[in-house]
Amino acid sequence: MSRPAPTPIAVLISGRGSNLVALQGAIDAGVLPARIVLVVSDVAEAAGVARARELGLHAVTIERRSAPSRAAHETAVVESIRAAGAEWVCLAGYMRLLSAEFVAAFPNRILNIHPSLLPSFPGLHPQRQALEAGVRISGCTVHFVDEGLDSGPIVAQTAVEVLADDDESRLAERILHAEHRLYPEALGRLLSESWSLNGRQVRFATPKPLRDGTL
Ligand code: GRF
Repeated sequence: MSRPAPTPIAVLISGRGSNLVALQGAIDAGVLPARIVLVVSDVAEAAGVARARELGLHAVTIERRSAPSRAAHETAVVESIRAAGAEWVCLAGYMRLLSAEFVAAFPNRILNIHPSLLPSFPGLHPQRQALEAGVRISGCTVHFVDEGLDSGPIVAQTAVEVLADDDESRLAERILHAEHRLYPEALGRLLSESWSLNGRQVRFATPKPLRDGTL
């Protein structure tokens, strides 16, 4: 039986791009039925741009400061995604909130990964927030993007234990390790399984049992 054609996706980054590399790794391993047709960075010097090109991916920089307004910047990004033929958009360390117009351009087709168990600790420095709150378990979340801050419907989460001697960077490193597995897995389920959105709940036709802290 032939496999379904891989879904064209765009990945938006602002930084080092390790989640981008993880997504491409899963594609190369044959476990994610997608094809990265475009990488967009809003930061010219982002390390992820070089990493994308090393992987042979088409990567462009669209800087906010080169655009006359936020709306003009978003229009340029949306147009580049459309021109590349991407059907899904994965934010991977993209440090900009999307407007309602951007979100509406790809309805229920924009994902983000965040290094906390949302709705706890949205926004900046979630690992520091987790340590300051004294939680015993943190983790990462893949969620649909709406115009709020890390506030869209949750697709998948992985729990990561907070250790007694953790500092922000050690906790961030362990969570990042979990992110690299969770993001391809969550996207892969959305692309290959039957699911629906019921209010804020993402419902997969075939629910998955809890395994290694991931649901
Ligand atoms: C990750 O921790 C991700 O969860 C957050 O930003 C970071 C991006 O890291 N949204 P990288 O650029 O993918 O290495």
